[in-house]
Amino acid sequence: MIYLKDRAPVAAGNNSEVYRHPEDETTLVKVVKPEAIARANARWDFFRGRRRRYFHLKNFMRVLEEQIAVLAAEGRASPHLEEVIGLVETDLGPGLMVRCETYQGEIAPTLHKIMTDGGLKDHMRQPLEAFLAWLEASPIVANDTGVGNMVLSDRRDGELRVVMIDGYGETAAIPLKSWSRWLNRHDKRRKCDSLRRRLNLL
Ligand SMILES: Nc1ncnc2c1ncn2[C@@H]1O[C@H](COP(=O)(O)OP(=O)(O)O)[C@@H](O)[C@H]1O
Ligand SMILES: [Mg+2]
Repeated sequence: MIYLKDRAPVAAGNNSEVYRHPEDETTLVKVVKPEAIARANARWDFFRGRRRRYFHLKNFMRVLEEQIAVLAAEGRASPHLEEVIGLVETDLGPGLMVRCETYQGEIAPTLHKIMTDGGLKDHMRQPLEAFLAWLEASPIVANDTGVGNMVLSDRRDGELRVVMIDGYGETAAIPLKSWSRWLNRHDKRRKCDSLRRRLNLL
């Protein structure tokens, strides 16, 4: 059991609170926020869709599915997708343990933070283009390519790398993008174009 209750989260999103692992500071543990659990429980079964059995943990299922899709297609994990270590038990409920991406020794900033703190620097352009090229070509389904779901990391040998830490996995009730490679690619091309516009890369 991992004890998180008396600790402060290091980050949070709409759905999860993110804690540093108490015994391993290179990892983070994501737990579902109580509000998100209440939101999930308030939905009728019908609207919970095909993942209804997973209740408030359906995001974990989505993450695991995409991780497996990458392993199946490429034989190994991608440096552009968050490293998932596994499912863990915490005193705040089930948690998803992931590698903490870092930048200059601190928790890695999201692209949103970079954009609001003075914008992109020239040396960030090439890593971003490499990320966008990977995203388009990879088998993963993207749902939310907002700038809060990618971070800039230099965790591996100081090399700059953009990593998707959220917003991947199919949310549609009928998983057309998982079934059709063409449709998935078409959807991601559109998303990458809008991300390029958002980042002033065009
Ligand atoms: N692997 C990671 N490395 C570094 N920071 C992370 C990582 N995963 C999440 N974060 C931070 O935690 C925040 C919330 O996590 P996220 O998975 O996006 O939760 P939510 O599903 O609630 O949006 C992110 O915006 C980011 O700042
Ligand atoms: Mg998020």
